[in-house]
Amino acid sequence: MLREPLLLLSRSSRVKDLVTRLPISSTIVNRYVPGETTADAVAATRALVDDGLVVSIDHLGEDTRDEQQAEAIVTAYLELIDQLAAAGLAHGAEVSVKLSAIGQALPEVGPKVSLENARRICRAARNVGTTVTIDMEDHTTTDQTLTTLHELRKDHPETGAVLQAYLRRTEGDCRALAHEGSRVRLCKGAYNEPDSVAWTDRLEVDKSYVRCLKVLMAGQGYPMVATHDPRMIRIATALATRNGRMPGSYEFQMLYGIRPDEQRRLAAGGETVRVYLPYGREWYGYLMRRLAERPANLTFFLRSLVSKR
Ligand code: FDA
Repeated sequence: MLREPLLLLSRSSRVKDLVTRLPISSTIVNRYVPGETTADAVAATRALVDDGLVVSIDHLGEDTRDEQQAEAIVTAYLELIDQLAAAGLAHGAEVSVKLSAIGQALPEVGPKVSLENARRICRAARNVGTTVTIDMEDHTTTDQTLTTLHELRKDHPETGAVLQAYLRRTEGDCRALAHEGSRVRLCKGAYNEPDSVAWTDRLEVDKSYVRCLKVLMAGQGYPMVATHDPRMIRIATALATRNGRMPGSYEFQMLYGIRPDEQRRLAAGGETVRVYLPYGREWYGYLMRRLAERPANLTFFLRSLVSKR
């Protein structure tokens, strides 16, 4: 299995230096990240919306270590939300936010700063008629992220949660969050987690994904089925039917650049399909997680690095 070593290697600063010398235009980066600027994100969103899809936009950044950097990321989100509204796209696009990008990891003040920053983004989103989903990061942040989500939902109940099926705790978290008005994105999980907290066997992760889906589809909330896995998509569709859910009372979500034909096929069949669209200069961590998910990409990636030198 290449996934684990690749995720570990991605934490080496030498590897980061080497990889980030790749231009954003390099095919392997560009496949997953359409650009670095707000204008790039808005243009890519426009193209997807024109194709009948909806979008969740992530301004890339994570592990922010100082308040200025956190502030810069909040400013980028506020500008993005303004630009979406100006382009008439606020109903087709929401934003996804990583709490670590807006200060969660700052010593001592992290939870307070990231909550306040998230509130500012939620307020701006609501003002233009859209929503925010709070991404989930590695398991050491799960409790704090859910606490922050709970606080945010007091004023902004529309704020979306993310749960990761590979965590052993997640079926219970699904039960707690499957209530009316609760938007919950279920994904498999993208971080390198220890066996003590997560299933590491793919089949076990899939089984957990199905158990979680059953809870969310039977519940009163709005399930957001984030996967490219054809089996999970089939099971989600069957569970929606079994629970009397019509398209529009749940949605599918996929990442920008992955299975684009399937995204359009589902949308053409009447499903709501949201594309997660990351943009910005801090694409390194995101790219490495995408490569780790699909080691078949690795040869192509190494070739890009070599041809660049
Ligand atoms: P799986 O990995 O089994 O892949 C199924 C199939 O999809 C593969 O066979 C392949 O065809 C295709 N595929 C998957 N990954 C690919 C790749 N990188 N390149 C090319 N093809 C690929 N994670 C997290 O921890 N926190 C989060 O907040 C989010 N947010 C999020 C939002 C959305 C909209 C999505 C779709 C995913 C996330 N994720 C995430 C990532 C998620 O946890 C997971 O790592 C990936 O979605 C891959 O898992 P799949 O369910 O697609 O299954």
